[in-house]
Amino acid sequence: MNQENQEFLKMESDIDRILITEAQIKERVCHMAHEISKSYDDMKETLTIVCILSGSILFVADLIRQIPRRLALGFVTVSSYEGSAIQSDGSLLKQDLNIDISDRHVLLVDDILDTGSTLRLVQTQLAEKNLKSLKTAVLLRKSDKAPSDIVVDFVGFNIEDDFVVGYGLDFNTEYRNLPYIAVLRPELY
Ligand code: IMP
Ligand code: MG
Repeated sequence: MNQENQEFLKMESDIDRILITEAQIKERVCHMAHEISKSYDDMKETLTIVCILSGSILFVADLIRQIPRRLALGFVTVSSYEGSAIQSDGSLLKQDLNIDISDRHVLLVDDILDTGSTLRLVQTQLAEKNLKSLKTAVLLRKSDKAPSDIVVDFVGFNIEDDFVVGYGLDFNTEYRNLPYIAVLRPELY
C-alpha cells in the first residue's frame, strides 16, 4: 500500500460514523441543481452565485457544473468557529465579496445552517446591495437548531445536531477532503 493510501486510512480511522455517503450527496446535489435551475427558468439575466468560503467549496463546485445557464461566481469569507472550537460564537466577516452584485439576481450558497449567525450576517449585508432577487441554498441544515427567521429556499439534507466533517466541512481545518459527510470519534472533539 502506498503512503497516500495509508494517510487516508489514518484519517478514516478518526471517523465514528458516516452520515451521508458519497453516492447520496451526488444524487441530492444533482436534484438540487435541477430544482434551482427550474426556479430561474423564466429569468433571462445572468444568475450570480455567492459562495460562503471555505466550507462550501466542494458543494458549489459540484452544484454549478449542473446548472446549465449563464452564471457568475463570487466569494465571501465568514468565520464562525475559531481553531478547534465546535461551538459557534458569532460570525465574523473576514473578506468582503470580490465581485459587484448590485442589480443582480443572487443565489447565496453555504455548506450548513447551524445557529444561523453566518447566514444572518451575509443575508443582511447582501440585502443592502440593491439586488433584483436573493435566494439561499444550503447543503445541510441542523433542523432542530436552525432559527425559523432564517429563510433558506433550497436544502440538501436535514441532519441532527452533530458536528460533522467532510465534503468541504472541517474540524480544526482538516477533513475537508473526505468525499462523504461523517461524525468524528467523540474523543477527538
Ligand atoms: P452558523 O453560523 O452557526 O449557522 O454556522 C454556519 C457555519 O459554521 C457553517 O458555514 C460552517 O462553516 C460552520 N459549521 C456549523 N456547523 C458545522 C459542523 O457541524 N461541521 C463543520 N462546520 C460547521
Ligand atoms: Mg461555512
